[in-house]
Formats: sequence, C-alpha cells, structure tokens
Amino acid sequence: MSSTSKTLESALAEAQARFKARNTRSAELHAEASSWLPGGNTRTTLHTTPFPVYMSSGKDHTVTSEDGHTYTDLVGELSAGLYGHSNPVILSAMQKVLSSVGLNLGAQTVHETEMAKAICERFDLERVRFTNSGTEATLHALAAARRFTGKRKVVVFGGGYHGSAFMFGGGKRADNNVDMADWIVVTYNDLIMARKRIHMDGVAACLVEGVQGSGGGIRGSEQFLAGVQEACRDAGVLFILDEVMTSRLAPGGFASTIKDLKPDLKTFGKWLGGGLAFGAFGGRQDVMAAFDPSQPGSLTHGGTFNNNTLAMYVGHAGLTQIYTPEVCVEFNNRGDELRKCLEAVTKGTKMCFTGKGSLLASHFTEKGLQTLESQEDEVEELKDLFWYEMMEEKFWSVRRGNVSLVLGTPQEELDRFVECVRAFLDRHRDLVAIEQK
Ligand SMILES: Cc1ncc(COP(=O)(O)O)c(C=O)c1O
Repeated sequence: MSSTSKTLESALAEAQARFKARNTRSAELHAEASSWLPGGNTRTTLHTTPFPVYMSSGKDHTVTSEDGHTYTDLVGELSAGLYGHSNPVILSAMQKVLSSVGLNLGAQTVHETEMAKAICERFDLERVRFTNSGTEATLHALAAARRFTGKRKVVVFGGGYHGSAFMFGGGKRADNNVDMADWIVVTYNDLIMARKRIHMDGVAACLVEGVQGSGGGIRGSEQFLAGVQEACRDAGVLFILDEVMTSRLAPGGFASTIKDLKPDLKTFGKWLGGGLAFGAFGGRQDVMAAFDPSQPGSLTHGGTFNNNTLAMYVGHAGLTQIYTPEVCVEFNNRGDELRKCLEAVTKGTKMCFTGKGSLLASHFTEKGLQTLESQEDEVEELKDLFWYEMMEEKFWSVRRGNVSLVLGTPQEELDRFVECVRAFLDRHRDLVAIEQK
C-alpha cells in the first residue's frame, strides 16, 4: 500500500490484485462451490467480489482463513457472534447437552421454560415463543398482530431489514418479500409521514428497528420512536420493535434505553441463541394468546426445532452466565468509546461511523455526512477499497461496513483498528477529501 495520490479506480484495481494474490485458495474454493451453489453462495450477505474469503476456523475473537491468514473478527457474525468462537461457558453448555440431555427429544423440556423466563424477565415481556431465526420471529409476530387487530397492512421503514423475506433497502420492497401488497414503506426517522401512514385504514402493525442494523447502524431518534409508539396507540395499531440485533445494546434491550418505550411486541434472534440458530417473539399476553393451543381457533405455530435442546440450554447459559447486565453495560460503553475515537479520526472526510454501543457501521458519502438519519447513496468504490485494505490489516470485515464487536476482543486490537482507519484516510487523502463547492 503506497501513499502516493492515485485515482480511485487505480487504487481499487491495485487493492483487488493484492487481494487475489493473498487469497488464492479461497479463489479455488469459490470456483468449486460455484458448481453446486448459485454463484457459489447460500447467504447473500457474505458474497463479495471477486470472490469471498473462506474461513476454516475461529478461536476467541479471531478467525483463520483457508489461505492461512488470522484476522481479528469485526464481523461478529453480523451481531450473532457476540460470545466469540470458543467461550468456555458456551462450550461446556453444549457439551452438557450432548452428553447428558440429548438432541431431538420430541417433547417439551424444562430448558425452554427456563429460557422463556430469562428472556421475559430481561426484556420485559409477558409471554414469548421461540422460532429458528429472526425471519420467522417477524413472520409470526406479524401473524399475531393481524389476528389481534383483524387488519393486514404493515408500516415499515426504508433501510429496514427484518429477515430474508422482509427487506426494505433503498426504501423499496424486495422482490422476494412475502405479503407484497401489505407493506407501506416510509423514510426512517420521518415522524410526520409515519404518523400519516399509521393512521391509514387497514394497518395492523408498525414494525421498526431502534437502530437499523443492515441499513447501516442508523439510529432512530427518541422523538421518532416515541412518536411512532404514540401514533400506534392512537390508531389501534400494534407497535412491534425488532430487537433481533439491538437487544444486545442494553441489559433490557434497546427499548429500555428510551423512557416509556413499551412496544406491544418485540422480536429477537441472533446472539440470544448463544451461537446457534435461534429466534423469538413476545410481548403482551393478550396478543400472544393468539398462539395458546388450549384455546379454540388459536393460530398454529409449529417448528420442529423451536425448542431444540441445544439452543434453549446454550442460549440460556450465555444470557445468564456471560452477558450479565454488568457485562452488557461495560461492553457497550467500550463500543461507544471506540466510535468516538473513529468519529474523531474521520471528521472532515467522506467517511463516517454510525451506530450505537457495540454495533457500528462505516459509511462513505460524497457530501461527507458525519451522521445519517436514513439510508444515503454511498461511494461504493471507497467502501470496496476500505474493505480490501482492512482485510490486509487483518481485520475480518463486512463489505457493507457493519462492525459487531465480539466479547473479549483486546483493547489493543480496537486501538489498532482506529490507527488503521487513520492510516487509510491519510494514505488516500485526495480520494476521501470532501469537494469544496
Ligand atoms: C434487525 C433484524 N431483524 C431480523 C433479522 C433476521 O434474522 P435471521 O437472519 O435470524 O433470520 C435480522 C438479520 O440480520 C436483523 O438484522
């Protein structure tokens, strides 16, 4: 990486050439995978050009690639990998299930009650049900809202992501969303329009993230979220908060960070499974009663693995033994400190970092925005260049810019990341400078 002034195109071409040279085994593995998986891929988020890097293993806060490079893990499995790759509490809980509980008992177990109790107490829910993913949690939370209100439409926000059939990037409904006719998409943080749409006929629910994760660590303002809740109350619409990512940001989840924010339902997933496939949704008892199988006409919510012993037991161990309220607070404070350092480094450039606590995201905008209230057009080539070069610095990163911190990551590594960002901006100062009009 030289520090001469270059065009963005040539800097990118050089970075990509170095990427290819460093990751030849991954290139081979991608070619092989492409014979069986469309584009060699079964999880779109992980696709990168010219090919993805294949990981062979993970330990603590690091991952090692098939090409033999060890990285500090900033991907953190898009927030699900909170506990890192070899936390002893997680490993021993898994071992216990394997050796003395067993898999697939085909029955209810005490573990699901314990997990339900822990989640309800921690996140202020009256009742909860489990699923296998956040996507399913969204699906069934919406079913509950539709049953309760007798209406179908749902107000959502541009840049929102609530699962692989509920995507609103760029303010549009994705072609493979379910229930296409039912979505009303509003710009995030636009309370005036949100109010109007929530009051439209036929609206069952308003579904919102407190901080947009996939959308780029964009925070909903307190005024916006409280206003959405109030409009929902006035209109008889259910207020559903997607806490799949944000529940790790405070001991009681994101909702507990805003006074009097009390969603009717919340959805969960990711880290709460302790590293295993997991999802949950819950909230008001009268709404969740839609799923009470002892009641005639209740909704059926099957799911072979909803209460699987591994996720129930391991998730519970993680929540109660590792991610205690004290650890959660300290960890997110560290994230806030990191973001402050990054904000200082990126000030006055096209780059900025958004997010909250342990969830951050980088952005490059032509205007050099220092904060984002909704999704913005970004300089994709700069995002690519940053991604290639952070990988060279041995930071395993998401191409789109999300950083999800992993517990136990040494402070020196976080400091090193700040220095690498500083060096990147220095090295490419002509490319990241904001044009003066
Ligand atoms: C906010 C949010 N909701 C829901 C989901 C869907 O979760 P899953 O990938 O477990 O289906 C995600 C996944 O990234 C998410 O970020």
